[in-house]
Amino acid sequence: LLRRARAVWRGFFRQPMEVKQRYANSPATYEGYGSRLGVEKGAILDWGDYYFLHVRPPHLFDPDKWPHLPPELRETTEEYSREVAALCGRLMTAMSLGLGAGASRLQEAFGGAEGAGVCVRVNYYPRCPQPELTLGLSSHSDPGGMTVLLADERVRGLQVRRRGAWVTVDPVPDAFIVNVGDQIQVLTNATYRSVEHRVMVNAAEERLSVALFYNPRSDLPLAPMPELVSPDRPSLYKPMTFDEYRLYIRRKGPRGKSQVESIEATAIGAAR
Ligand code: OGA
Ligand code: NI
Repeated sequence: LLRRARAVWRGFFRQPMEVKQRYANSPATYEGYGSRLGVEKGAILDWGDYYFLHVRPPHLFDPDKWPHLPPELRETTEEYSREVAALCGRLMTAMSLGLGAGASRLQEAFGGAEGAGVCVRVNYYPRCPQPELTLGLSSHSDPGGMTVLLADERVRGLQVRRRGAWVTVDPVPDAFIVNVGDQIQVLTNATYRSVEHRVMVNAAEERLSVALFYNPRSDLPLAPMPELVSPDRPSLYKPMTFDEYRLYIRRKGPRGKSQVESIEATAIGAAR
């Protein structure tokens, strides 16, 4: 399934530009094919294309936004999303137990498995003649709950920030990379912290990755779980819905971890 998922999306991105542009992303839902959209004027752009789709909740699933070609793309992507979302459910349980909470506590804080959001973003980084001048994807943390990334099986590119230094992640065939996103940082009062990462480009080879974002229910105000707040460890974040947070992120574009840190600063400022 992993191999098929990569193959259908390579097939999509290798089509001529006129074909891809029929699916140009819409400012309202962000869905479709494109490069960065809705960012501030003068923002630095990245050397990469992507395709963004909502899979869940069901009212956001819009078949008109899905590519028609290659013919196996839809079915493969739906199957892939179903399987990887189920894996996210299991990871949520493990992470909840890791907090010393009940098995389903983190999922409850997400608003339940039914309301969870599942989105897919397929990234395609073409070869870049001057890779030292740009990035495939600027430094950011993923805004949602958690991300399961199927990185390119051969071509390096992803880097994660560890103790201030950028560390290149080596490809491991048939393995996933799991990122903690900003909403898990908020819900766990920064017990789990989102990971800052970015993508380098390459002069010799193109690179493809498939990211599945597993997100909390988007209209639920999210704040640290009460059992992770105490006088010694005050709440770092004011309640905010994921819809509100996502809008804010999309306007600004990727900016390291500054966004989750900025809501932290607001909460601390307000408490003083
Ligand atoms: C993302 C992302 C990394 C990659 O889509 O949010 O960080 O390797 N992708 O493409
Ligand atoms: Ni990311």
